[in-house]
Amino acid sequence: MSVVCSEITDSVLLEKVALYGAKRFVYANIDAKTRAELPFPSDYEFLPCFLPKKYEKLSNRIQNFKVRPNDIWVVSFPKAGTTWIYNIVHQMRNNLDFSANFVPTLYGYFERAILFENQNNDDDFECFINEVHKDMDNFDEDISPRVIKSHLPAHLLPQEVWTVKPKIIYVHRNAKDVSISMYHMFRNHKYIRLGGSIEEHFENFLNGHVTYSSYHAHVNSFLQLQQMENFLLIKYEDMADSIDGIKKINDFLDYSYSDNQLIQLAEHCSFDNMRKKQRFNTSFFPNFFRKGKAGGYQDEMSPEYIERFDQWKV
Ligand code: A3P
Repeated sequence: MSVVCSEITDSVLLEKVALYGAKRFVYANIDAKTRAELPFPSDYEFLPCFLPKKYEKLSNRIQNFKVRPNDIWVVSFPKAGTTWIYNIVHQMRNNLDFSANFVPTLYGYFERAILFENQNNDDDFECFINEVHKDMDNFDEDISPRVIKSHLPAHLLPQEVWTVKPKIIYVHRNAKDVSISMYHMFRNHKYIRLGGSIEEHFENFLNGHVTYSSYHAHVNSFLQLQQMENFLLIKYEDMADSIDGIKKINDFLDYSYSDNQLIQLAEHCSFDNMRKKQRFNTSFFPNFFRKGKAGGYQDEMSPEYIERFDQWKV
């Protein structure tokens, strides 16, 4: 067993964190033997990750997933702009076919099966799930290069990621915007209907009690990889006003699109165009394209919380 999970039994906490449709949660981490095999500094400490209990059942499959050298992994903390970057990569992979639909947010989502444990008997929900995304089984049939999206922290990615060395793009966005984006997405979500105030959500976020937390542990686990040739860090905040980010992705993935083509790609994947042409199910993802800007938190976060987020590390 390479992953160790401990179930959260604190009933007060569980009441507060009924996010993503899950009712039971675990803290997940790798065991000492697996830790010793990872190419991270020996004094780097991986923190447990807050995940729905369903992860425990699937952790072996996730750990043993067959990775391909030409896979492209787009990884992030949820709400960091993953769908945006995924669509840019997807377009590059598909020869910039701008006539094709944008791919929805759950498309290509590797470990999506760990979510939504309470909706198994709901036809409507199952239909939605089948329509928009693949799970681990389908990935085996995919033609290379596969573009795979994950929100797992570095140490919980499949073990072959470290030996096969596919390309990894990590999307980073500041914690305040991520936190607010998450609140708005889930409070009106068809199944989740996150109750409570935005302040209660901030407390959950700061205490590491939203799925995939802690945010800082997640980000830090990927910042350790910056020296690796097969790793690229992309910041949401750097993507909006220039094509530099898109150029970096183009070079990193060894595509040779011209500047003109990349300008077209940036326009095609602009917030306004994606919002206009999205085909997301809006009752599942209300307000998905809400603000789409960096620093939007300033309108919605009180100075006290801004200060707490700014001082917060893990
Ligand atoms: P907001 O809720 O702040 O608007 P993810 O895909 O990881 O779930 O991230 C969703 C966030 O990325 C949302 O932020 C969404 O608006 C933003 N986003 C999606 N497409 C975008 C684009 N083309 N340009 C800028 N932001 C985008």
